[in-house]
Amino acid sequence: MRHKFLPSFVKRRGRITRSQEKNLDLLPNYLVTTGKEIDDISKDFQKTILEIGFGNGGNILSLAKNNPETLFVGSEVYLAGIGHLLGEMVRSKIANIRINTGDIRLLIETIDEPAFDEILIICPDPWPKAKHHKRRLINEDFFKLVYPTIKDDGVLFISTDWEDYAESIEESIGLSNGYQRESFSSYEESRLTKFQERALKEGRRIFSFPLTKKINSIV
Ligand SMILES: C[S@@+](CC[C@H](N)C(=O)[O-])C[C@H]1O[C@@H](n2cnc3c(N)ncnc32)[C@H](O)[C@@H]1O
Repeated sequence: MRHKFLPSFVKRRGRITRSQEKNLDLLPNYLVTTGKEIDDISKDFQKTILEIGFGNGGNILSLAKNNPETLFVGSEVYLAGIGHLLGEMVRSKIANIRINTGDIRLLIETIDEPAFDEILIICPDPWPKAKHHKRRLINEDFFKLVYPTIKDDGVLFISTDWEDYAESIEESIGLSNGYQRESFSSYEESRLTKFQERALKEGRRIFSFPLTKKINSIV
């Protein structure tokens, strides 16, 4: 089958534990697959934040615990990570997370009104080999795709632990008219994700891109 987008992830079952597998039975209670569903649920909340590629879910879980008035939409294709997050959500009685399990770009395409106050992407898959750079999620097309889904003055926060990915993100921001670069984001001070911790341990630094949406730009 031909996919609309070149996959930006390796579809991973991972080493899924029995309890993660069992937690996946709960997924239908939290699943969102269209912009309309997100719009309906977000009416019960003050803000809506999307985290793309939540991995094992540590970051989204902690944000959701600390901000119960905000709806968090988590996007991930990695089944072990989704199962892990579902278990933690039930254990902590978290009611403000919904999950999308496909390529997030397919969901974003169904959204034609500004839906998100913030979009977060922490350590997107780096695809370090030059021949794989075209698989990287963050590029000019991505900035165009998400622009209409972010509310006026909304936030797009991206961080990567790969220097040459950071350079190409920098370049794509420069080519896109729609975003204002900010000097700081509180996300730079939040708890480290699993991949950020690994990066620091391996001696890589973290490059952050705190952006706000410029209103009425042609992107
Ligand atoms: C390197 S991991 C980082 C996980 C987590 N953010 C962290 O920092 O620990 C990137 C994650 O993004 C997910 N991902 C990549 N492309 C995606 C896409 N198009 N839609 C949804 N998830 C995606 C991958 O499955 C992977 O788990």
